Amino acid sequence: MKIKVADSAGFCFGVQRAVDLVYKEISNGLPIYTYGPIIHNDEVVEDLRKKGVKVIETLEELKDLPKGTIIIRSHGISRKVYDEISSYGHNIKDATCPFVKKIHNIVNKQDERHIIIVGNPGHPEVQGIMGWCNNNYTVVEDIEGAMNFNLPLDVKICIVAQTTYNYNRFQDLVEIISKKGYDIFVLNTICNATQSRQQEAYELAKKSEAMIVIGGKQSSNTRKLYEICKKECENTYYIQKLDDLDLNSFKSFRNVGITAGASTPHNIIKEVLTVMSEKSFEQLLEEENVVEINNGDVVEGIVLGV
Ligand code: F3S
Repeated sequence: MKIKVADSAGFCFGVQRAVDLVYKEISNGLPIYTYGPIIHNDEVVEDLRKKGVKVIETLEELKDLPKGTIIIRSHGISRKVYDEISSYGHNIKDATCPFVKKIHNIVNKQDERHIIIVGNPGHPEVQGIMGWCNNNYTVVEDIEGAMNFNLPLDVKICIVAQTTYNYNRFQDLVEIISKKGYDIFVLNTICNATQSRQQEAYELAKKSEAMIVIGGKQSSNTRKLYEICKKECENTYYIQKLDDLDLNSFKSFRNVGITAGASTPHNIIKEVLTVMSEKSFEQLLEEENVVEINNGDVVEGIVLGV
């Protein structure tokens, strides 16, 4: 079995930066809070919890907590949330990814244009972007949303995308909206790390008999990698950690590809790779034990003296 791990698998720049910031803050002293889990990875979040980092799910919780440092994760937050956190007197450390921050700045400056955010309205990144749009926005999630978009034709439009949105689908949606005849300004804000990761996953899946996609079930970029791989390679498995891997499923595959979402730590990828390599080694030993007998029948096991 040949195993190929995508070069782009694992932490992206923005996630690495956010995680590093939390660990650095721990060394400066507690209390430390993160607004939502710092990344979509249970192992990392649990490790941080053991070190005393508390995850805050609602701003309400902050009122009664001792003053400390609250870390904003790479997804970013709306201006209103910033203001509210500051009003509680906590110290803010902002780990918003610079690529997401760039979108906040773009949409915030578009006074004359109606913003279309292409992305998932339930995703924290998109919710953060909405909060910088001066209330003049529409979120378009899919083809149906693009087809249903219907403002008067004299409204000028600016289109941006969630950083982890699928590039080809973004192009399709832009085309549908453009055909309606609006004056449109399109900014492809899909992150390069996402685009190259998706492209690499696509190419690897195309030439693999099986694919393993590693990442949290909440991770939107991992889910997209899974969808891309599944389309090209029927035997695609979405796992969160090594324990989810059913090695027996890989018995008959000769080429296996591995990729991982932007919030998957390298140690999990390494664990999966190690176990798969051992599996591959076992497979090799089994194959070496296959001996061909004169009449062409194949038997398993070492046959001495043949
Ligand atoms: Fe930032 Fe791109 Fe990662 S937007 S958080 S570097 S996927």
